[in-house]
Amino acid sequence: MIETQILKVETTKPAYQAIHLAAEILKWGGLVAFPTETVYGLGADAFNPNAVQKVFEAKGRPADNPLIVHISKFDQLEELTDNITETGKLLTQAFWPGPLTIVVKSSPFVPKIVTGGLDTVAVRMPKHNVALRLIDVLDRPIVGPSANISGRPSPTTAQHVHHDLNGRIDLILDAGRCDIGVESTVVDVTNQPPLILRFGGLTRERIEQLIGEVQTTEDDHFKRRSPGTRYRHYAPEAKVVLFERGDKLVFDRLNQKYFEDGKKVGYIIYSTDLIGEPAVLGRLVGSNIEIYSQMLFQLLRDLDTLGADVILVESVEDIGLGKAVMDRLRMAAK
Ligand code: TXA
Ligand code: MG
Repeated sequence: MIETQILKVETTKPAYQAIHLAAEILKWGGLVAFPTETVYGLGADAFNPNAVQKVFEAKGRPADNPLIVHISKFDQLEELTDNITETGKLLTQAFWPGPLTIVVKSSPFVPKIVTGGLDTVAVRMPKHNVALRLIDVLDRPIVGPSANISGRPSPTTAQHVHHDLNGRIDLILDAGRCDIGVESTVVDVTNQPPLILRFGGLTRERIEQLIGEVQTTEDDHFKRRSPGTRYRHYAPEAKVVLFERGDKLVFDRLNQKYFEDGKKVGYIIYSTDLIGEPAVLGRLVGSNIEIYSQMLFQLLRDLDTLGADVILVESVEDIGLGKAVMDRLRMAAK
């Protein structure tokens, strides 16, 4: 066990002392959880294999699931790859800093432990002052998987990080709740057309507006998967059960059935008129997909804390940010 410190930092003007302390810890091979616009990341010096090894241990993450390298300047991309494709350039110029991760050919300097032995590396420039300042002050890229125990809902507050990783990491920089609440969109730009490996905070629609049609791992002929999607993900302790948007009949039926089985039922819903008896633990997100996305992981964690056995979740439309939300819900419901 190591002692995990939490330090509050302002997003707009992060105090230099806090960033400096975090950078020192990283420099000496320690682990620092840091806020991004998507979810909290677990940072370690990307060029220090021992430090990166500790990230896998702290999270209980399978070694063949590669990490995203976070940068604060475009120059740093050149240390990580010799081959940024044209679409890679277009995408990063348009959407960095922001919730986009690109997968590119890895340079030989990237430690194999970071890429899980693949010849590609995932890179992202987060849109968060604290993350950007930290990387600037350290003056090196950092790895940043979500700062949760593998398989659990990703952390969108410092409290979630603390809950999962207290005693396993050195420091948590606390800048409050993350804006987007789901992880970045991962796009393999070595593929032509580019291939979306994970839906996330940047919508497919916005990507296609810029570069035309892309492929996704859902396309029938595409058997390849992002290495991470093999594993169970985003799952709270409670069983997650999805139902169609606005389907009061099914909602009431499920609610009744689990209630009769003696289960504590919780719900995450959009439509107010769904709420019925005898639901015990409710969580309403309102009809705004941005808020749904921002609150999703928080709500799953809250309902666990309240002791729900089952969480009934109202589906949302599979477009825009809703696609990222539904992907996570489907995995949580597996
Ligand atoms: O928003 C985010 O991306 C957050 C914040 C902290 O930046 N990070 C994050 O990291 O979600 P993580 O480790 O939880 O998810 C990384 C995903 C995994 O699905 C992993 O398999 C995939 O990126 N990935 C990493 N390197 C890859 C590579 N070389 N090829 C294909 N997929 C890769
Ligand atoms: Mg993750």
